[in-house]
Amino acid sequence: MTVLDDLDQPHAAAVLRDLRRELMVYKFAVDELMTKLRILSEEFDFAHQHDPIEHITSRVKQPEAILRKLQRKGHAPGIEAIREHIEDVAGIRVVCPFVPDVYMVARMLGQQDDVEIVRTKDYIAEPKPNGYRSLHLIVRIPVFLSDRVEKVKVEIQMRTIAMDFWAAVEHELFYKYDGEAPDDFAEELRAAAVTAADLDSRMTALHQRIRR
Ligand code: GTP
Ligand code: MG
Repeated sequence: MTVLDDLDQPHAAAVLRDLRRELMVYKFAVDELMTKLRILSEEFDFAHQHDPIEHITSRVKQPEAILRKLQRKGHAPGIEAIREHIEDVAGIRVVCPFVPDVYMVARMLGQQDDVEIVRTKDYIAEPKPNGYRSLHLIVRIPVFLSDRVEKVKVEIQMRTIAMDFWAAVEHELFYKYDGEAPDDFAEELRAAAVTAADLDSRMTALHQRIRR
């Protein structure tokens, strides 16, 4: 299935071990960003009596999955190709109560001196054709190691609880159907995404009334 299948067992194990070592920095980058986000959440809550973050999850892609993605994209395996072509080795998902929280947390993070925003994809302003909504950031942060500093890329997906509910269920349904969904399926999903967006506006309106 991957380049590893062409190697004998001890050789494949050695390649994986080297890769795991190279991939450690991605875990450190996630740890740093999780701390930054928790600080924003706790301090903003204290200052303004509103926590802009409902919950945060994170994951580092497994080496085997990274190698499969490299192969799918037509790149030769190796840490250099991973650094350059795979932007979601490290992933963080930030789920916020309201849409304005999403943009505010993104702005507060981007303003930090050591956080470089490499790219932004705003699927809230422009939802994907299937209805998917989220704000995606690719950021780069320095990780200080014993003998060097490495700049590490992390994908941050930011969305509301309603968007997260839609995305989780859509993922589940898509996975089950494996691309052979009934005809009206896509339209139903898109309509459900509009319902979720409507829920977001109504909840935001309530929140703003209460804060006035
Ligand atoms: P990859 O799909 O990861 O190769 O990245 P891309 O270049 O297409 O980037 P994009 O920002 O569009 O998507 C990155 C990630 O967002 C995906 O890996 C998913 O985790 C998530 N995502 C994007 N589109 C959808 C969607 O339609 N539904 C769900 N549930 N998740 C999505
Ligand atoms: Mg991905």
